[in-house]
Amino acid sequence: MAPFGVRNGDLHCEGLPAETIALAVGTPTFVYSTEAIRDRYRQLTDALKDCPFRVHYSMKANGNRAIVTLLRELGSGVDVVSGGELARALRAGFRGPDIVLGGVGKTAVELREALRAGVKLINVESRAELFLLDAIAGELGVVAPVGLRVNPDVVIANAHEYIATGARGHKFGIEHGEALVVAREAIALRHVQLVALDMHVGSQLATLDPYRDGLARLMDLARQVRAAGAGLKYLDIGGGLPVVYQDGDQEPDLAGYGALVSRAIRELGVELIVEPGRFFAGVSGVLLTRVLYRKESGGKQYVIVDAGMNDLLRPSHYDAYHRIDAARPSGKRVRADVVGPVCETGDFLALDRDVDDVAPGDLVVVHGAGAYGYVMSSNYNARPRAAEVMVDGNQYAVVTRRESYDDLMRLELEDPHWRDA
Ligand code: LLP
Repeated sequence: MAPFGVRNGDLHCEGLPAETIALAVGTPTFVYSTEAIRDRYRQLTDALKDCPFRVHYSMKANGNRAIVTLLRELGSGVDVVSGGELARALRAGFRGPDIVLGGVGKTAVELREALRAGVKLINVESRAELFLLDAIAGELGVVAPVGLRVNPDVVIANAHEYIATGARGHKFGIEHGEALVVAREAIALRHVQLVALDMHVGSQLATLDPYRDGLARLMDLARQVRAAGAGLKYLDIGGGLPVVYQDGDQEPDLAGYGALVSRAIRELGVELIVEPGRFFAGVSGVLLTRVLYRKESGGKQYVIVDAGMNDLLRPSHYDAYHRIDAARPSGKRVRADVVGPVCETGDFLALDRDVDDVAPGDLVVVHGAGAYGYVMSSNYNARPRAAEVMVDGNQYAVVTRRESYDDLMRLELEDPHWRDA
């Protein structure tokens, strides 16, 4: 059964009508399907069964405690990119060996926290970071398990420029041509052990080509790094598996992906690390929002809903497409802009879109909102952040309550302490 589908005229999440949840919890609310995440975890692990691997779910896509706990119970580790994500992962029950730390600008504090937690791998993105990590590990009297994130120099067709990461000149990783030199330096350092090479070719990758090209380069480098004396244990190929946001998008070729990476991994005799985020969370979640008003202006139809760019930034930030349906489709359609309440012209969920001809009070479902939705939300316009709900069969639970006005102000000091100098 599809996790989100119309049954008896009402859009359901697993066994529950979306309207039931919206009436109880209010809107805007993110709703996630437990079964969708389980199913996707099974699909991916099945595709990788021919090589030793560990999934390290990329928490940045959705760090909700219930979701990461579910993935942990399924056997996943996590990929974290900040001290905050590390803290969340530890709170959710992950142990050091379950955690890979990445990120282009880790602070000394974050590196120290990761070493204290005994993480499995720290992927460094520059020479300077490598030397800092060595110094910190030395202070703590430990040896840091380190990977080099290499910029694979792969150009992705059709990607929004903000989610392309692996082309030469992007801020991420160590330039491919420089990687062997840095690897030799890593091998010579006393407090780091070079155990992995890492890449992330991009996100929402429509074909396997970027993986094939990036992997070929990484394999080549792995052989040279081995010859230089590193005992590689892991090859980390990042995330990037796509989801279907709209008609025409393709499901990832998981069988092809599995075959491609298994071959490489078996040849090298290492463990594969994959860091998918969107693949698990993307279409496993929707955003429920209610229609506030309809209006016509400048010859255009507007549907004004109670979720805005502060709740789901992807449409305005990346021009991203999210399918939008009435929770109870009437069959009547209209061409309209679906916009939020935020005081910005760029606050929209869809522009010039053929949508259900909804009326004020109707519930609307924004699909594909599970990844890079809640985590990218903000309090702009002093809007409390939405609630998050998990559904499992015929049951649901609020897993993050809606913010209150008090929450909005809880960090402000009523009586700030003024100091000289
Ligand atoms: N590993 C690394 C090193 C990454 O940089 C990323 C994502 C991932 C894994 C997970 O990628 P995924 O499997 O989710 O594609 N906010 C953007 C996406 C930014 C992705 C950044 N890096 C969006 O909403 O499309």
